[in-house]
Amino acid sequence: MTDKTVDNPFFARIWKTLSSSEPKALRRLRSENLAGLSGRVLEIGAGTGTNFAFYPSTVTEVVAIEPERHLAEVARSAAATAPVPVTVTSDTAEEFGSAEPFDAVVCSLVLCSIDQPDTVLRQLHSLLRPGGELRYLEHVAGSGWRAGMQRVADATVWPRLFGNCHTHRHTEQAIADSGFQVADAHRELAMPAWVPLPVTEFAIGRAVRPA
Ligand SMILES: C[S@@+](CC[C@H](N)C(=O)[O-])C[C@H]1O[C@@H](n2cnc3c(N)ncnc32)[C@H](O)[C@@H]1O
Repeated sequence: MTDKTVDNPFFARIWKTLSSSEPKALRRLRSENLAGLSGRVLEIGAGTGTNFAFYPSTVTEVVAIEPERHLAEVARSAAATAPVPVTVTSDTAEEFGSAEPFDAVVCSLVLCSIDQPDTVLRQLHSLLRPGGELRYLEHVAGSGWRAGMQRVADATVWPRLFGNCHTHRHTEQAIADSGFQVADAHRELAMPAWVPLPVTEFAIGRAVRPA
């Protein structure tokens, strides 16, 4: 347990707007990230609940944690119309615990915002049943001029504007270093490569807690 809190009304307002008008490419990636899931799922930092509509009917229960209260309120409304049962709790990833293991954990656009992603990834690993899987959709560190732009963004306004988001993170490496076996992964551009934004390249994948 930690005393970590997430209270970010400014970012919550921005995210409510952004998440209501996402590019089609990102929505396709969300759907791909959740395809084939079944059983009991934990979703970390659910935001406004944008993923909820994409869970397949083979999922029996989603426990979605969202500590930012303005976002949790919107997520609860999205849960009410989701195609599968979703419960939204206000825990942080750091403080969440469960006596019953999960079949899958879902992280989308969240490992960039967590202070200690390595610690949280190890904790998520322990919350899965052996053989259970982490599904992730995360923007990641690029190379060349984009890496330079990401480092500048991270050192200046980006984390302040976007709820502690860091754009130059080697998230795939962090996942592999936390005990997961990456079973299936690739990268995709959600926008054309020339777009001068630090968050155009996404890693999408499935990583398993070895049985
Ligand atoms: C960019 S939003 C992404 C929301 C959602 N996952 C999605 O795909 O649309 C990042 C989310 O992570 C949440 N978050 C930040 N730090 C967190 C933490 N320590 N534990 C759980 N969630 C956290 C924020 O409140 C926010 O909802």
